[in-house]
Order: sequence, then structure tokens, then C-alpha cells
Amino acid sequence: MKRLVIEGGNSLSGSIKINGAKNAALPIMAGALLGDSTSILENIPYISDVENLGKIIKSFGVEVEWKENGQLIINPHNINHFEAPYQLVRKIRASNLLIGPLLAKYGVAEIPLPGGCAIGTRPMDLHLKGFEALGATVTMEHGIIKVKADKLEGASIYLDFPSVGATENIMMAATLAEGITTIENVAKEPEIVDLANYLNALGAKVKGAGTDVIKITGVSQLHGVNHSVIPDRIEAGTYILMGAICCDDLRVENIIPKHLEALILKLREAGIEIEEGEDWIRIQRSELFKAIDIKTLPYSGFPTDLQPQIMTLMAVAQGTSIITENIFENRFMHVDELKRMGANIKVEGCCAIIEGEKMLKGASVHATDLRAGAALVMAALAAEGETYLSGVEYIERGYQSMIEKLVALGAKIKCIEGSEG
Ligand code: EPZ
Repeated sequence: MKRLVIEGGNSLSGSIKINGAKNAALPIMAGALLGDSTSILENIPYISDVENLGKIIKSFGVEVEWKENGQLIINPHNINHFEAPYQLVRKIRASNLLIGPLLAKYGVAEIPLPGGCAIGTRPMDLHLKGFEALGATVTMEHGIIKVKADKLEGASIYLDFPSVGATENIMMAATLAEGITTIENVAKEPEIVDLANYLNALGAKVKGAGTDVIKITGVSQLHGVNHSVIPDRIEAGTYILMGAICCDDLRVENIIPKHLEALILKLREAGIEIEEGEDWIRIQRSELFKAIDIKTLPYSGFPTDLQPQIMTLMAVAQGTSIITENIFENRFMHVDELKRMGANIKVEGCCAIIEGEKMLKGASVHATDLRAGAALVMAALAAEGETYLSGVEYIERGYQSMIEKLVALGAKIKCIEGSEG
């Protein structure tokens, strides 16, 4: 079991280059199955979620080649298999995004239900309702979702919640359906827009991505294409928050500042100085900044994927902050770990009340999910003394070379193998 040993209290400075967005790369990798020929995807982050989804796609008989330069080549020409192995699916929830493309292109898909994780039960009812509306039969046997359709027909679909995954899955399924599909109350995240841009480059007809209603006019065939995914706004936001808590001067580069508007406005509300460039943001730690209230919301509201990280910042803010988690029902697993480091946090339902403290103290803590892990690294860098962090594999799921990037800023972090010390 890998652990990080992090020495807190060092002030960091320098610049960090942001990689391609995990949550754009994953749906686009699935979407590549829709094409009759090879897609060359660029700016793909080197993370285990991408590696694991690539293994599942490869298990279908698809050619998948990952080049060092962040290029991922997917050629679905020889696909001969449409069932995903549970042992791989359990490692990557986004495997559920394979259902839409397989259903559209081959009329069949058998994917084990990815199941819940630390942050919630992660149901798929909205995905499956959309597939049925398009004419598919959906069954669930022994934990495996089986979808079949001789052909898909355009339909009008309303999402009870603007689910990112359901929007992506139904949009992909509808690209090869007969006729027009409208999906209402869709997710508007930048990753949805990036996926729609990729699908249109394949030859699909998708309109309205980024708004509340997406309209897809089905076509008969799609062809492979080159596409470079957008920068990862959540990776960028994570480092911006790290900058606010422990960097004298940090420049976060290769980003689209507009995708981080909610975070930037909230940090300015707390009295933290942020300088915004065309594709970079500069942030300097301020000794004193105010506690603010945060509510997580679908885009363009404050992103749930930055909630654990901003909670760490609020743990050392001046005053009381209330963080309301409106997206996932169980995304406060990092609270107990932050409390072990001296944070003063009380959870009441979907709200966490944080009394800012002067200083956190190093401790042995465990990451329960990807973003909680990032929040604990932040806390450890700002804390007094040494922190032992286990659950490093969660961080590697979504952050390319986080340790190397932080060490280059002056952080003192070691990665050790072996049991608890
Ligand atoms: C995507 O997950 C992201 N993952 C998540 O990022 C992100 O937190 C989430 O969107 C919200 O922004 C990827 O894009 C790979 P949802 P997804 O469907 O699609 C409920 C990270 O750290 N829901 O928008 O699974 C669900 O239970 C990860 O990078 C249903 O009820 O999220 C949740 O409460 C974590 N029925 C809410 O909607 C459904 O059929 C939001 O889920 C689907 C979802």
C-alpha cells in the first residue's frame, strides 16, 4: 500500500501546467467506438482512470494505443465483443459511458453496474430511462446491465436531474438513432460541450450543448477524427486552491479561466487576490482571508469536485463557513480526516459547518476518493509537522504527476511503499 509522507509548512512557488480533462477524455474515449475508423485523441491525461477505460475498450477487440506524448489512438474496426469484464468495470465507474455508443453502433451492450463509491450510490436510472425512450430494451441480471435494440428512434427525453453521465450517454446513443432526439434539463458542463464538439467532428449532428436543451439529428454513419480534449478545470481548481493555502506565488497554466468562474469569484469574495490571464491564473497566499459559504451546484455553479478542496481552505479561514453539498449524498468522507488534523467541522445532513482554525497539524490520514485525497494533500502541505497519507491510488486516478508537480514547487513529499508506520 503506497503512502505519502508530506512535510508541512514550506512555502511553495512557481508554475504548474494543467493536463487534459479526465472528465472529457473518458466520455470521448467511449464516443470513439461510434466511428467506423480511427480516432486520434490528443492532450489525454496520463492517469489510471484513462488506462483502465482503455483496457476495457481493448477487451472488446478494439485497437487502443497510448503514446507517451498524450496521444491515444482508438480504432474500433475489429470490435467483436460487447461485454465488459467486472474486474475492470469495478475500477472505473465511467465504464458506464460505453453503453450509449455500443447500443447506437452495435445494438447491444452488457456492462456490469459500476456500483456506488465513497461519495454516493451513483444510480443509473436516468441513463436507462433515456435508452428505453430511444427504443432499447434494458434488463438487469446478476448485476449486469443488458441493453439491446434492433434500431433506435429519436425521442423527447427529460432528465429529472441534469446528470453529466446521463446527458453524455443518451447524447451518444442518439447520434445514430433514426430521427430527432431532444434531451431537456441536460448537464451544461464544459466536458459536455467538448464531447458534443468531438461527436460533431465525427459527423454527428448535435446542437445546444452547454444550454438546457440538446437536440440530436440521427445520421447513418460516423468516421474517426483527430480531437484534442479541453484542459482539466478541476485539476486547475485544485492547484489554485493549493496556491491559496500554501504558495507565496503560483501560476497555473494551460487553462480556460472561464471554466473556473465560480471558483474565482468565490475566492475573491474571501478576499484572496487572483490575477487572470488568457490561459493562466496567478494566485498568492494571503495570511488572512474570510470564511465564505459555498453551495455545490450543476455547472456553472460551484463544482462538487472542488468541494473537499475548498473545505480544506475554509478550515484555516477567519470565521465560520457553511458548505452545502447538493450533488452527492455522501461527499463528506474527508471531514473526519481533516478533523484528525485539527480542523473544526460539524456535519448536519448535507451541510458542513467549518470554524476556521489558525493552523492544522500533521497526522496519519486516509484518502477515501479522488478529490478527498487532493484536499488532504492540500491540508498536509499547509499543516505544521508531518502527515502520512494512505489511499494514494485514488489521487493517481485523476491527477497526472501530482507529486512531481508539487515537489517542483518546493514541496517536501515522499512516496513510500509498505504498511502503516
Ligand atoms: C460526473 O459523474 C463526473 N465524472 C464526476 O466527477 C462529477 O462529480 C459529477 O459528474 C458531477 O459533476 C465523470 O465525468 C467521469 P452525475 P456522474 O450523473 O456523471 C445522480 C470526479 O471526481 N444521478 O452528474 O456520475 C447521482 O446520484 C468525479 O472527477 C441519478 O440520480 O455524475 C448524483 O447524486 C466524481 N441518476 C447526481 O445525479 C442517474 O441516472 C450527479 O451525478 C445519474 C445520476
